[in-house]
This record gives sequence, structure tokens and C-alpha cells, in this order.
Amino acid sequence: MLSSRYRPYHVPIFLAKYAWLRLRRRPVLLNFEVTMRCNARCGFCNYWQTPASAKAQELADFSAIARRFSPMLVTFTGGEPTLRRDLEDLVRAVRQSVRYTYVQLITHAGMLSLERAQSLWDAGVDQFNISLDYLDGRHDEARGIPGLTNKILDLVPRMRAAGIGGVKFNTVIKRDNLDQILPIVHQAAAMGAGVNFSVYTALKNGNRDHLLQDLDPAAVQAVVDELLAYKRRRAGVITNSDYYLEQIPRYVRGEMTEPCESGNTTIHIDPQGQVRRCPDFPADGPWEQYKGYAPIDCNDCFYACRGEAQAPLRVMSRIRDVMATVQPEVARPERILPVVRP
Ligand SMILES: C[S@@+](CC[C@H](N)C(=O)[O-])C[C@H]1O[C@@H](n2cnc3c(N)ncnc32)[C@H](O)[C@@H]1O
Ligand code: SF4
Ligand code: SF4
Repeated sequence: MLSSRYRPYHVPIFLAKYAWLRLRRRPVLLNFEVTMRCNARCGFCNYWQTPASAKAQELADFSAIARRFSPMLVTFTGGEPTLRRDLEDLVRAVRQSVRYTYVQLITHAGMLSLERAQSLWDAGVDQFNISLDYLDGRHDEARGIPGLTNKILDLVPRMRAAGIGGVKFNTVIKRDNLDQILPIVHQAAAMGAGVNFSVYTALKNGNRDHLLQDLDPAAVQAVVDELLAYKRRRAGVITNSDYYLEQIPRYVRGEMTEPCESGNTTIHIDPQGQVRRCPDFPADGPWEQYKGYAPIDCNDCFYACRGEAQAPLRVMSRIRDVMATVQPEVARPERILPVVRP
């Protein structure tokens, strides 16, 4: 989990903060959706249809929210957060308002230059989560951004070489990218980066084309088995817990019956400062009125954040995962694979 800004002795500090927040039933992770605007054209998410005029209602500062909750993790997301020219200011203000908060940024990276990445890193982003669902031209097509895949594969090694110590791919497992899952892991390892997987949901815009549920469950199980085997061979590249990965086939087979705990360990704050339990539920009111959420009988997604919140605390395996991902200052690349080009 941790970027090169941190050392192994920080791990117990973060774990203590985690325990302190859980004991007080306070959110561990705040997702700041700093804008819902987006300049991509994804076929599986409709945030890009947000009108440009929405910019006028976006909060100019999220630090009061961070101060009130003092979370262990903050994620800047959207929409496309790099559209905000003041993103560095937002990050800096949040950093200054909370101690021991690990700051992540999720981006499609279409507009991310090395200079912008450096300035965001300097402002306090600990980890860049760059969305990457395919290593070939399908990614460009899926996002409606020509040249995106090559751009990402060119940028990530340069970010690592420049000393940016936390880079991960955010990869959505879809019906049509099972052939890409292990290659993306190898690519990440070769670049000194990591990968965090999540499962596709049709909730964003009703597009069912990518649902894993339409596949032979054995094909999903086979990929999950490969990921678990990879984790056993080499820790620190795949950052999902074993629990989350193990549950994916069960979810796909429709056997998951546990209520969803979203809105307690993880909450979403929209661009106007309204709180919601998860990215696909409507806002419930201003963040100041947040009082937690009751578990809900919903099974519409198996996002990593839902699955990880559901995980029993298998402390030793999670500590092993976290320790293994304390990133070295300089990439320790896997000696495999040239960069795959479409
Ligand atoms: C909503 S996006 C916002 C950040 C940025 N625009 C991006 O795409 O990286 C956050 C994450 O959700 C993922 N995502 C988008 N649509 C999804 C879907 N239908 N199911 C699962 N994950 C999805 C994206 O790939 C991305 O990693
Ligand atoms: S997934 Fe990200 S890049 Fe695609 S439309 Fe949604 S917000 Fe934009
Ligand atoms: S399962 Fe949970 S996180 Fe997923 S859509 Fe339903 S309430 Fe939201």
C-alpha cells in the first residue's frame, strides 16, 4: 500500500490509526469526488455527460471535511480530478489538515504529464492510481482517448524514474479483458508499479456488455486462481486482499448474501460536499450531517472498496500485504516483458 514517502516504521502508525477509527466507527477512507466533469468518453460510465456548468458548484476546499473525519486514507477522484487546475491546492490543504493520511489520486491519466505528476506528488499525493483495463488499443477505444495506452505505458516508468514512489494501475475486471489481467500484473511489476483490481458493475450507466456474470464462472475462477498464485510468488504488486479476490467467483455466481456495509468504513463526498454511501447511490445530505449508514441488502456491485470493507480482519495476511508494498525509492522491476504496444 505505502509509497516511497513512507518507511516500514510508518506501517504500525497507520494500523494504529485504522484500529482507532474502526473502534470509534468512523470512516477509514474518504473519497473526494472533486468534480464529476470528465473529458473521456467511456461506454461504461456516464460522468462525462456532466455539463461544464457544474464547475460553478464545486467546492474550493475539502480540508474542513478531512479535518473533521481525520481518515487514514483520502482518495481524490471524480469525474476526472486532473481537470481541476487547483487540484494541487486541494491536495495540499487536505494534507495540512490531517496527520497520517495516505493520499491517493484516481485518474485516467489522459492529461497527466510528468511535470503535472511531479507537482501533484510535491503537493502531497502519495499514490497515483491510473486506470488501465487493457494493454492494447481496446483501452483507447473504451475511454475514447486516442493514444492513451501508449501514453500511460510511456509515462509510468518515467514517473518511477523521477522518484514518484507510488504508482498503481486501477484495473476493472470485465467480461472482455480476462486475457489482460495477468499481463497487466506483469507489466506493472516490470515498471515498479502495482495493481488494484475491482469488479465491473453495470450501475454507472446500465451497460451490461462487460458483466462477468455472463461468463462461464470457471473462466473467472481460473483468473482469480492465477492472481492468488502470483501473490504467493511475489508480494507487493497486487494490492487486493486474498479475501477480496477469493470472493469474486462467489459474487459472480450470485452466491453473495452478506449485506453491504458501504458508507461506514468508506464514504463518498460529491463535488458539492454532499455525502453518499457509495459512488452509485444518491447523495443524502451535507457532510456535516453524516451519522453513518445501516448495512443494506444490496448486491449490485462488488467494487474493491465494498469487498475489502466486508473482509474479516485477517490481520497477519493484511500486514504482510501492506509491508510488502512499501515501495522502494527506485523501481525494482521484474525482469520480463518489453512494454506491450497495441
Ligand atoms: C469513476 S472513475 C474516476 C476517476 C477517473 N476518471 C478514472 O476513470 O480513472 C474511478 C474508477 O472507477 C472505475 N470505473 C468506472 N466505471 C466503472 C464500472 N462501470 N464498474 C467498475 N468500475 C468502474 C474507473 O475505471 C476508475 O478506475
Ligand atoms: S470512468 Fe473515469 S474516465 Fe471514464 S467517464 Fe467515468 S469518470 Fe470519466
Ligand atoms: S452493493 Fe453496496 S457499494 Fe455496491 S451499489 Fe450496492 S450499496 Fe453501493
